[in-house]
Amino acid sequence: MAVQLFRAENFRCLKKIEFEADPQYNLIYGANASGKTSLLEALAYLGRGKSFRGAPTSALIRHGAEDFVLFAKVERGERVATIGVRNSREGLETKVDGAADGGSAALAELLPLAVIDPDVHNLVAGGPEQRRRYLDWVAFHVEQSFLPDWRRYRRALKQRNAALKSDGQGLDAWNAEFIELGLKIDAARQAVLEICVDSLEEQGSALLGSDVRYEYRPGWGKDQSLAEALSEGLERDLALGSTQMGPHRADIRLFFDDRQARRLVSRGQQKQLACSMILAATEVVQTHLERPMLLLLDDPAAELDHDALGRLMNQVFGLGCQVLATTLEPAALTFPQEPRLFHVEQGVLTRLT
Ligand SMILES: Nc1ncnc2c1ncn2[C@@H]1O[C@H](COP(=O)(O)OP(=O)(O)OP(=O)(O)O)[C@@H](O)[C@H]1O
Ligand SMILES: [Mg+2]
Repeated sequence: MAVQLFRAENFRCLKKIEFEADPQYNLIYGANASGKTSLLEALAYLGRGKSFRGAPTSALIRHGAEDFVLFAKVERGERVATIGVRNSREGLETKVDGAADGGSAALAELLPLAVIDPDVHNLVAGGPEQRRRYLDWVAFHVEQSFLPDWRRYRRALKQRNAALKSDGQGLDAWNAEFIELGLKIDAARQAVLEICVDSLEEQGSALLGSDVRYEYRPGWGKDQSLAEALSEGLERDLALGSTQMGPHRADIRLFFDDRQARRLVSRGQQKQLACSMILAATEVVQTHLERPMLLLLDDPAAELDHDALGRLMNQVFGLGCQVLATTLEPAALTFPQEPRLFHVEQGVLTRLT
């Protein structure tokens, strides 16, 4: 699977760009504020229905424009699929092969992609929500029932919290559903970590040259069931008006040379660790989907010394993904074969090779 053609109109500083991508390596260079990240953000939006920079839609529409439109031709086995997205202040419209289709889940299925950007270290250094999203992204791709279960779990959690806020009225009814779905989410995440663990360890030691270890935290006490945790925490839940324990509090603890990675490693090491997690997940999802994914590398050289960057790129190339990378200086990145080279300046893209 590879993006053959991509078009973006009125997305951030990009008025109108269109390019044919190389099925393997693409390199986009340009000065600060030329539009490099915007271009990757636009492509990622097409595969996710949201910005990887966490920006609201209103920030993505080019100043002065009404809406943005994104379009891609994506090779899918024997055939070529088209994906289109139009986003205005009224909302998101998605089209797959010209027909209105099932929103961002349909996009993610057609254009599975991973992003490594200069904020990637937050996967290690930031709060647990990002690590839960990380596990859930793999779960979404490898386990069909995960997304509907996850949506039902979110609903049960909301209803349980509403019951807690009204002095526990109707709590018993929601407890049963909350526990049933919570255990499914928990089991899916544990299974994900299990299938990822070999890749995680390999990628981790390839990038960092040390042992890395991962410990799953389900979001409630180790030696009790979810039902026990809920009944033990009932008073506190009622006092706070929200559920304090459950899969919405899950986390992965990362250890590097047996030290807790979050606080003890340097910023460059946090980036390497986070990259190793993303590459491992990409490897697992690709194997499951039996097709290569799209990997977007926004300024991979940031924060990394020469050797660390070399190791990262080496692992990237080992995956066989379609790669779109950005850089300030084209000479900073070396590819196994000449990448297709693009230059971007004030939101205008030019193909050079
Ligand atoms: N909605 C918008 N409309 C018009 N321009 C925008 C919009 N949002 C952001 N921009 C501008 O787009 C420009 C390009 O931003 P972008 O982050 O893509 O640059 P970049 O090439 O990645 O730079 P850097 O090398 O500093 O990371 C910036 O000047 C930014 O102010
Ligand atoms: Mg940028």
